[in-house]
Amino acid sequence: MCGITGYIGHKEAYPIIINGLKRLEYRGYDSAGIILNENGIFKLRKTKGKVSDLEVKCAKLNSKATVGMGHTRWATHGVPSDVNSHPHISNNGRIALIHNGIIENYGTLKIMLTSKGYVFKSETDTEVLVNLIQFMQETQKVDLFTAIRYALNEVIGAYAIAVMEVEQPEEIIVARLSSPLAIGIGENEYFIASDASPFVEFTKEAVYLEDGEMAAITLEGVDIHKIKDNAKVNPIIQELKLNLEEIEKGGYDHFMLKEIHEQPKSIMDTMRGRLLVEEGVIQMSGIWDHQEKFFNAERIIIISCGTSWHAALIGEYLIEDLARIPVEVEYASEFRYRNPIITDRDIVIAISQSGETADTLAALKLAKEKGAFIYGICNVVDSSIARLTDAGSYTHAGPEIGVASTKAFTAQLAVLSMIAIKLAKHRGTISKERFTSLITELETIPDKVEKVIRNTEEQVKEIALLYSRTNNFLYLGRGYNYPIALEGALKLKEISYIHAEGYPAAEMKHGPIALIDNNMPVVVIAPKTLHYDKIVSNIQEINSRKGKVIAIVTENDIQVRSMVSQAIEIPDVSECLTPILASVPLQLLAYYIAILRGANVDQPRNLAKSVTVE
Ligand code: AGP
Ligand code: GLU
Repeated sequence: MCGITGYIGHKEAYPIIINGLKRLEYRGYDSAGIILNENGIFKLRKTKGKVSDLEVKCAKLNSKATVGMGHTRWATHGVPSDVNSHPHISNNGRIALIHNGIIENYGTLKIMLTSKGYVFKSETDTEVLVNLIQFMQETQKVDLFTAIRYALNEVIGAYAIAVMEVEQPEEIIVARLSSPLAIGIGENEYFIASDASPFVEFTKEAVYLEDGEMAAITLEGVDIHKIKDNAKVNPIIQELKLNLEEIEKGGYDHFMLKEIHEQPKSIMDTMRGRLLVEEGVIQMSGIWDHQEKFFNAERIIIISCGTSWHAALIGEYLIEDLARIPVEVEYASEFRYRNPIITDRDIVIAISQSGETADTLAALKLAKEKGAFIYGICNVVDSSIARLTDAGSYTHAGPEIGVASTKAFTAQLAVLSMIAIKLAKHRGTISKERFTSLITELETIPDKVEKVIRNTEEQVKEIALLYSRTNNFLYLGRGYNYPIALEGALKLKEISYIHAEGYPAAEMKHGPIALIDNNMPVVVIAPKTLHYDKIVSNIQEINSRKGKVIAIVTENDIQVRSMVSQAIEIPDVSECLTPILASVPLQLLAYYIAILRGANVDQPRNLAKSVTVE
């Protein structure tokens, strides 16, 4: 899930590419590299580390080149190192290539090329591809475009690539299969990138390559063909909705903090035009256009990964509880390889912030092949998952850049709540009064989230000070808030590197209780819900073993407050809406603990925002 970007035009390419790489760093930051073509000479710089390290290495580059490309890497094949960094150069020194994805049959290809005398400097799969292109060019006596096409027809795997040839300073060739690639169309200038963020200030027009397509980009335009048979494709130009402010930090220290604070707005944006309280309706065209399927559904399967999988678990509670449709939730990575039983009567919903997660995409393709109706809940408009699905509902959370997902998660919960309440109404599984009271309450959620942030942030900072040096954390919740325990633990471990486990509170006695002593902080999500008394008992059990409890409680809950070390209050709402509110202080807790530990919260080690490899 590397980030790739490039420029061809009349401006200096270097600053455009470096700025573009900074915006793509969410995709990986193991190493970075840039190549410019200055009057038929390659200028290559690459280094282990971040784009800022690359900038240091480029201090004396001083290039006026108007064509070039850059890469920020999340390593799959070969450790993060200077030599494994992209761009990779062919043995004859004439072809440069950057790559996002995995060449699965690189081993066989490498053996073949080695037998022909090719030598490899890096451990990457990418270096095999660039040499395969040289091999095709030389053995088949074809131009670069055709050589790339021939090479890609030999390749198994996933890729978005950009290729430059030293003798062709006015051309970049790109191709994609299962990894995203956008081409920005300016005036006599073109941009390429894994997403539109690197070029949003230069143009509002872009072409998104489809799977199996490649394009030659020159100053004359973009020429798209099918990789398989070279058939010509007419480009479809799309207008970008993204704007610059959305992808900048806006005065916050980190994107994650900005995104936590944006939640009142992102939830509101997600519900805008859909939740029409005065009219007494939830308007969701994706559901309405396929109402027969949804209202009569026998089963819904939700597939996703990571935080989106936690949202799916809450979706299961919501849809089963309110709409009484059986729901199964699966990790996309498991679902795709276990020969699942799916029929054309099933609805398969994929939840994905990026819309590019390779496992989710592959699982969805499988469900589609088996005839299921596939529905997407994505944040990134026109992403691969959004385009594959039969229908869907976007979360309008805006670009999420911090690697730890926050506002996308609560926006997913808002969409799932609307779907569940809408289905419940039409299936007659909730009364008219309950419907009205739920939508009225849902409308108040952005204000309540605002209140949670305002009232708890300072308190959470103090709690973070108390626990920042601890090595373990336990998170417990029941019912609707069990997935919030999982999510709270995931947030903490991914950005602070503290070991954290999430459990259903009642499961504690079946094992994790053995971990509890006076060094173990336990976060208990304990709002006043159906399970309140049960969770109070769980807190007693922790206290008896001297664990330190930090509880998320409903406002004015004196009982739990008197039993725990710290109580963080959230407003009173119906049980099914508590997860949205309860997740916010846990995001803040993870953030402030990570800051105290000196961790890079926006770019945690080993992670990347968009996981476009298996
Ligand atoms: C969340 O904080 C993660 N970094 C990660 O688990 C993420 O939710 C997962 O990779 C799924 O991504 P998606 O929503 O873009 O598909
Ligand atoms: N396979 C390439 C590498 O390891 C690209 C990785 C990716 O896109 O994540 O360098």
